[in-house]
Amino acid sequence: MSTKPVRIAVTGAAGQVSYALLYRIASGEMLGKDQPVILQLLELPNEKAQAALKGVMMELEDCAFPLLYGMEAHSDPTIAFKDTEYALLVGSRPRGPGMERTELLAANAQIFTAQGKALDAVASRNVKVLVVGNPANTNAWIAMQSAPSLPRENFTAMLRLDHNRALSQLAIRMGKPVSLIKYLAVWGNHGSTMYPDYRFASMEGESVKGIINDDAWYKDVFLPTVAKRGAAIIEARGQSSAGSAATAVIDHMRDWVMGTQGRWVTMGVPSNGEYGIPKNVVFGYPVTCSGGKYTVVEGLEFDEFSQDRIERTLAELISEQDAVKHLL
Ligand code: NAD
Ligand code: LMR
Repeated sequence: MSTKPVRIAVTGAAGQVSYALLYRIASGEMLGKDQPVILQLLELPNEKAQAALKGVMMELEDCAFPLLYGMEAHSDPTIAFKDTEYALLVGSRPRGPGMERTELLAANAQIFTAQGKALDAVASRNVKVLVVGNPANTNAWIAMQSAPSLPRENFTAMLRLDHNRALSQLAIRMGKPVSLIKYLAVWGNHGSTMYPDYRFASMEGESVKGIINDDAWYKDVFLPTVAKRGAAIIEARGQSSAGSAATAVIDHMRDWVMGTQGRWVTMGVPSNGEYGIPKNVVFGYPVTCSGGKYTVVEGLEFDEFSQDRIERTLAELISEQDAVKHLL
């Protein structure tokens, strides 16, 4: 076992996503069963949030995880992010029934400005950042713009939940295991304009689109089911997704760090102009990961329908950026 622990900062550590996440990080599901971790946990300074955080830490202690070398509770990001190599930015306000994620912009933008600045000031220069708090793409963009001394490519947003949702819907429709499906992509925003794209997907060498062979199902059932799944969960549970969100965090970070062995996964990453997306817009792309780095899958063709979907989701992202520019 490598004895040097890595520092992982998690914000919103007493919230419901973190409650489903922290135990899995501490058990080695994210970075491997031989990697010790120190958790640097950030919550709001108020008494209730700090007391709840204390309770979560007591439970983590009670698990006696062999890989959990240390835990810290913080209310100041400039201390919580000190030397951290991984920053999972979960803490922010979730949406309630009937709201769009974009409506959280005003409430959450300031959090990500302050946290971007704090990362810039004190985190490891190699810190890998995943923004989960909504609207995740634009919050990642805000944090990245607020951290000019860190590499842009270290800032990512979570679209893995959308990717996993799309995989499951296809697998259910075909009556096959999820693990057989390859080359799926979800383009753009983690918002209602996202574009889950099965045109390149294959199952045991055969085209998924060809197997399903039902364009009406794809457009009228699959696309809205995936894009509106977050709202459907809120409607059903009365709270936003937590277990599936935590699973997506684990998947996103594990694949970024340990590689995807040629599989495509979806990550929200700052554009370098791929597929005509303006530089720095944090956009969901199919990527492969190797050696701790991700690479956008390039050279894919777009038909008229796909081009239109890409433009719609880009327009949503640009309008979100425009709404918060004055805060930066
Ligand atoms: P929650 O309300 O249960 O927990 C959020 C926690 O963050 C609370 O404990 C709160 O005290 C804390 N917090 C708020 N502001 C903070 C700050 N400035 N610093 C540190 N902590 C702060 O919410 P949740 O259900 O855990 O969801 C958290 C966020 O994740 C929401 O924005 C939600 O919409 C988002 N989310 C995103 C995805 C995705 O796929 N990208 C999936 C699920 C949830
Ligand atoms: C989700 O997709 O489940 C989360 O982003 C929560 C939400 O607001 O939909």
